[in-house]
Amino acid sequence: MKILFVGDVVGSPGRNQLETYLPKLKQKYQPQLTIVNGENAASGKGITEKIYKQFLSWGADVITMGNHTWDKKEIFEFIDEAQNMIRPANFPEGTPGKGLQYINCNGIKVAVINLQGRTFLPAIDDPFRKIDELIEQAKKETSVIFVDFHAEATSEKQALAWYVDGRVSAVVGTHTHTQTADERILDGGTAYITDVGMTGPYDGILGTDRQAVIKKFLTSLPVRFEVTKEGKTQLNAVVVEINDQSGKAKTIQRILINDDHPFFV
Ligand SMILES: [Fe+2]
Repeated sequence: MKILFVGDVVGSPGRNQLETYLPKLKQKYQPQLTIVNGENAASGKGITEKIYKQFLSWGADVITMGNHTWDKKEIFEFIDEAQNMIRPANFPEGTPGKGLQYINCNGIKVAVINLQGRTFLPAIDDPFRKIDELIEQAKKETSVIFVDFHAEATSEKQALAWYVDGRVSAVVGTHTHTQTADERILDGGTAYITDVGMTGPYDGILGTDRQAVIKKFLTSLPVRFEVTKEGKTQLNAVVVEINDQSGKAKTIQRILINDDHPFFV
């Protein structure tokens, strides 16, 4: 089976890109499952119920989150009913929402897991111990397990991927908003990329208005960060091909759509 994963959708430029390209990508790659990281979808921070539903209507099957999960207050009103949304599974016990979701794709059950790193990010539960627990749980249901590891440090992402190599089908990194060119199948059969990249403004700094970010570096003064609304846009994604029976990955392919890398059917 094929799984399409779209990297962090940032603000309205990201949402527009998703709406435009998701049908085209699905047409081209024919994935059985489409996962989108939506933690930056509402003005760069968090997600609303309206956007969550839009993503599903545009063709996403599962929405993953990250460190901005709680930034839009209305999340608390709908996350428990949002069947197709997961937030990092290693948020502390008792946190609303869930971090693991099973989804049936033409008779094949897939476990989708969202985790968050702890290096240069808030101190939450240990993602390594948590993933052991979730793999044990998921293996009872399926051998196809897909992980979005939302983390800042490349080392933490590589470490987690090697730690679970052969036990899950794929570990894709999100959060840094910059696509890495290290996609590969690890020795045990786990597909890996350090970061899928982002979907949204192309000329901002990680999606944020670049003048504000430059000012911050020049002055260290408090600066209001806003999503760049004007100008060029991009979409970053990967497609992972997995053996349905063994759960091992066969291929992982990067997708990059921007003015320098136009989309071809
Ligand atoms: Fe993030």
